[in-house]
Amino acid sequence: MNDTNKPLPSGLQLSGLDPEFRERPHPILDNLRARAPRHLHEFGLFLCAHADGRSALSDPTLSRDLRKAPEGSLMRSMMPPEFLSGEKPNNMLWMDDPEHAVNRGLVQPAFFKRCGGMRARISAIVDDLLNDIERKRDFDGIDDFAVPLPIFVIADVLGLAREDLPMFRQRSQILAELGLTPFLTPEQEALRVEHDQALAAFFLSEIAKRRAVPRDDLISDLIAARHDGQALSDQELVAVLFLLLIAGNLTTTDMLAHGIVELLEHPAEAAKLRADPKMARGAVEEILRYEPPVQATTRTSNIAQEVQGCPVKAGAMVSVSIMGCNRDPAVFADPHIFRIDRQKNEHVSFGGGIHQCLGAPLARLEGEIALSNLFTRFPHLRLTEGRPARKPSFFFNAYERLPLSIDPD
Ligand code: HEM
Repeated sequence: MNDTNKPLPSGLQLSGLDPEFRERPHPILDNLRARAPRHLHEFGLFLCAHADGRSALSDPTLSRDLRKAPEGSLMRSMMPPEFLSGEKPNNMLWMDDPEHAVNRGLVQPAFFKRCGGMRARISAIVDDLLNDIERKRDFDGIDDFAVPLPIFVIADVLGLAREDLPMFRQRSQILAELGLTPFLTPEQEALRVEHDQALAAFFLSEIAKRRAVPRDDLISDLIAARHDGQALSDQELVAVLFLLLIAGNLTTTDMLAHGIVELLEHPAEAAKLRADPKMARGAVEEILRYEPPVQATTRTSNIAQEVQGCPVKAGAMVSVSIMGCNRDPAVFADPHIFRIDRQKNEHVSFGGGIHQCLGAPLARLEGEIALSNLFTRFPHLRLTEGRPARKPSFFFNAYERLPLSIDPD
C-alpha cells in the first residue's frame, strides 16, 4: 500500500469531503504514515501516527478556542458568527483552560450521576425500537434505530416530556448534522439558525419551569451545580444542552450504524457476539477503533512554533487523524482486521487530553445494549443493498441510509 509515486494529498483531500478519501481512506493514511506521518499541507499539520496524535491532543500550547485564532485564519472561519461576536456563550468543546476546567467541573458531576443509572431505561428504549422493527421487518437501520436511540436516551436524561419528543428529534437531528459542519451553504446556514433559535427558546422555557420547581432530571441538576462558587447562567445552560445534543447524538448514531455494518460484514464476529452477549463491551471498542464516528479532530496553533518537531505558522490547523491513529501498526497488531476480542484496544475515538469525550460512558452503554440486543433478537438480520455509501462530511464518518431486513434472503 506504500505508493511512493503519488503526490501527497493536501487540504480537503484529507477529509471526508473528498470522495476517494471518504470511501477508501486507509490506503491513503497508510501511505502517509509511512512517508510523512507529520505532514505539513495547506491547512497546517496533519498527524496520523498514534503517538503523535495522542501527544497533540494533550498539548497545552495548542488551542480549541476558535475565538483566539488569528483574524482571517481558516480556523476562525469555522466558528459560527454568534459565538465569535460573544452574542452566545461558548461551550466546553471550544474552550481552553482555565475556562474549560470551570465549565466541565460544573457539568461533569451532574452528567455522570444521571448516566450511572441509565442501563434499565436504555434497555427499555431499545426494546421499544426493536418491537417496532419486528412489525416492519424491512427497515432503515439509521432512521428506525441508530438515530432515535441516542435522541430518546438524552431526552430521558434531560427529563423532557414525551409529547415534545417528535419536535426534539427533528430539531436535534438537523442541528447535529449542521452544528459541527464547516463550509455550510447559505441555505444550510439559514436552516441551522432557524432550528437553533427554536430549540434555544424551548430549552429556556424548560429551564424556567425547573428554576421555579426543580425536578428529578439533568436540567435541574445543572441548574443546581456549583464549582468554585460558580453556577451556570440560563444562556450557559442552553449552551451545555446544545453541546450534549450536537456532540452526542450523531456520533452515537454513527457508532451504531458502523457496528451493524461491520458485524454483518464479519459474520464470524457477529456469531461471537450472539454466542456471548458479554462480548458486547469488546465489540463496541473494536467498532469505535475500526470505524471512528469522528474521523479527525483539530487544534489551532495560535503562534508560529514547532509542533511535533514541525514548524507551523500562527493560525495553522493541527489535525489529528483519529482514523489514522486507530490503524497504526506500531500500536495495533493487524490493524486492518476487525476482531471483537482484541485485547488492549487503545483507540483515540473519544479524543484525549482535557477534551476527552464527556459522554463516552453513556455512548459505550448505549452501544453495548443496542448491538447485543439487535443481533441476538434478529438472527437473520441482513443488509438488503450491500455496504452503504458514506456521507460527505469534514469531521464525521457516517452513513446516510442503512437498508436492512430481519427476514432471511
Ligand atoms: C460514539 C459516540 C461518541 C464519540 C465517537 C464521541 C467523540 C468525541 C470526541 C472525539 C471528543 C473530543 C474532541 C476533541 O478533543 O477535539 C468528544 C468530546 C465531547 N463529547 Fe463525545 N463522542 C460520543 C458521544 C458523546 C455523547 C453521548 C455525549 C453526551 C451526551 C458526548 C459529549 C461530549 C462532550 C460534552 C464533549 C466535549 C468535552 C470537552 O470539551 O471537555 N459525546 N466526543
